[in-house]
Amino acid sequence: MTNEPLQETGAADAATPMVSFRKVTKSYGRLVVLDSLDLDVAEGEMVSIIGPSGSGKTTVLRMLMTLETINGGVIYVDGQPLTHMPKGGQLVPASDRHLRQMRSKIGMCFQHFNLFPHMTALENCMEGPVHVLGLSKAEARERSEQLLEMVGMADKRNQHPSRLSGGQQQRVAIARALAMRPKVMLFDEVTSALDPEVIGEVTNVIRKLVSEHHLTMLMVTHQMGFAKDISDRVCFFYGGRIEEQGTPEQIFGNPRRERTRQFLSAVKEAV
Ligand SMILES: Nc1ncnc2c1ncn2[C@@H]1O[C@H](COP(=O)(O)OP(=O)(O)OP(=O)(O)O)[C@@H](O)[C@H]1O
Ligand SMILES: [Mg+2]
Repeated sequence: MTNEPLQETGAADAATPMVSFRKVTKSYGRLVVLDSLDLDVAEGEMVSIIGPSGSGKTTVLRMLMTLETINGGVIYVDGQPLTHMPKGGQLVPASDRHLRQMRSKIGMCFQHFNLFPHMTALENCMEGPVHVLGLSKAEARERSEQLLEMVGMADKRNQHPSRLSGGQQQRVAIARALAMRPKVMLFDEVTSALDPEVIGEVTNVIRKLVSEHHLTMLMVTHQMGFAKDISDRVCFFYGGRIEEQGTPEQIFGNPRRERTRQFLSAVKEAV
């Protein structure tokens, strides 16, 4: 089996952030959920997003998935505007083709794994590569088997999701997202719906992605210990803005803002 890289190699140069939010605003009616947000994520960087409920964490990821339209600002992925495209020296709303091309750069895993119930683990992983990327079945199978091996699910590849535990399903969901060779992976509370004893199976896969693969990742988590261990940078969200960001050592060891301190002591008490 060949050892293909886990993601496409970059078009943007090293100095260009892989993800860039420029003064991005998102509101629902009068509720401003993201308030002129600036956020850059470098290629290969692992950034954790922490913060209270309702602070806009999931919204950031949903906008990257183009599940939401933005009200102001521009998001760039891999050096290109995500929901706009350049035309006649201006940015105009993106065509469907541009949107499809940009979406293919981003993979996601959310709290509920949403595997296709009528397909085996292997078929779940092969579906996108065959039907969206146009790979042959043989190529998609090889790629998917390699990824299922990487997440420790090779022996369960012919099982349907209903026969798998939550941790196993989540590992298949990660393999399925990686099978599309995204440049950026998004994780939103991937361990929140899991039983405590299987959380480690999933966090170990994410640890492996960080330590062995040069993948750009944005992870929303309530597991502070995990964020502390694996992140290059931690962003504390409050009221749709980044209240404070820094290295895990700084944010967890020496938070400068009162709101960060309050949040961290509240979550510590809750544990
Ligand atoms: N479709 C929607 N319509 C109206 N308001 C929404 C919608 N989606 C999100 N919101 C509001 O946007 C705010 C931010 O939501 P978001 O899901 O980003 O929070 P979060 O930081 O991920 O919170 P949690 O930790 O609870 O998951 C919340 O006040 C939420 O009620
Ligand atoms: Mg959320």
